[in-house]
Amino acid sequence: MSNSENADGLHQGSTNRNMAVHVQGDSRDSTSSSELHLAYEQQLRNELALSMQREALLLDALNAANEIIEAKTLFLCNMAHELRTPLNAIIGFSELISSQMPIQTDISKYADYAKDIHQAGIYLLRLTNDLLDIARIEASQLVLADEEVDLPDCIAACFHMLEQEARPKQIFLSRDIPPDLPLLRGDVLRVQQIIINLVGNAIKFTPPQGKVHVSAYSAGGSIHIHIADTGIGISSDDMDKIFKIFGQVPNPLTRARDGAGLGLPLAKKLTELHDGTLEIDSSPGRGTSVFVIFPPNRVAAPVCQPR
Ligand SMILES: Nc1ncnc2c1ncn2[C@@H]1O[C@H](COP(=O)(O)OP(=O)(O)OP(=O)(O)O)[C@@H](O)[C@H]1O
Ligand SMILES: [Mg+2]
Repeated sequence: MSNSENADGLHQGSTNRNMAVHVQGDSRDSTSSSELHLAYEQQLRNELALSMQREALLLDALNAANEIIEAKTLFLCNMAHELRTPLNAIIGFSELISSQMPIQTDISKYADYAKDIHQAGIYLLRLTNDLLDIARIEASQLVLADEEVDLPDCIAACFHMLEQEARPKQIFLSRDIPPDLPLLRGDVLRVQQIIINLVGNAIKFTPPQGKVHVSAYSAGGSIHIHIADTGIGISSDDMDKIFKIFGQVPNPLTRARDGAGLGLPLAKKLTELHDGTLEIDSSPGRGTSVFVIFPPNRVAAPVCQPR
């Protein structure tokens, strides 16, 4: 029997070698299984972190969707309210006309009813136009018809349109615009809409015999329009609210159907469409200043001849 053979005649050397291989294999197996374990644990951690991230994103999206639904519901409530008042006037006064037609001898009554129906119609048309403009801007569908706007002319035209609102309240409307103010590159009808909305507000929220002053000037390469009034003012708590669609502050100066709360947010959106900014400085009882600033890229050209 050779020394490499045991009593069973088995080959000793090869058995030992086999054992050694087996022992070595065991330690490698246990190392790789703990590595596997670690890798698996890491993978689980990664998946957990990923699913937590996904959950947070879904939660954000859900919150955003809920906010949109809430805003939509609020919008529909406001819309229904704004539509109902003038529609009731139209239905009520037209019913009066048709029911009293055979007996009413005072013809001036019919003229009053027709005037109320007409006013309700005008209000509804303005409301619809303002909402359409806001929707178009929000959908990036409102395209400006840019041209060179002569601001002194543009502001004079706005004053002409607003005089009939200022006169009954004896509000003193004044303006100060240098003749050499550079031309503005913008959409003249939209610029007028901005000024009418802002000067209209200044007249509306200023008590009788107050003052509204508009100045325009060029500073730092930009064109500034400043609308100042001696009206009721706005508290800092209400500042955010008034820039929201249908955002109004209840006050004794204005009656129902004096507006829907669209003019200011629309003026701001139209200014921003012209790359400009609209800011308000105000406090209760101390009047309001609105600043509309058009940046240098909106300044078309200097005026060569004095107007
Ligand atoms: N010059 C101002 N002085 C005091 N309050 C103002 C002035 N301008 C705006 N506000 C406040 O901001 C609110 C929003 O203005 P906005 O022009 O959007 O609405 P409105 O004038 O009430 O209605 P609309 O413009 O749709 O006819 C007003 O209801 C008012 O409370
Ligand atoms: Mg307004």
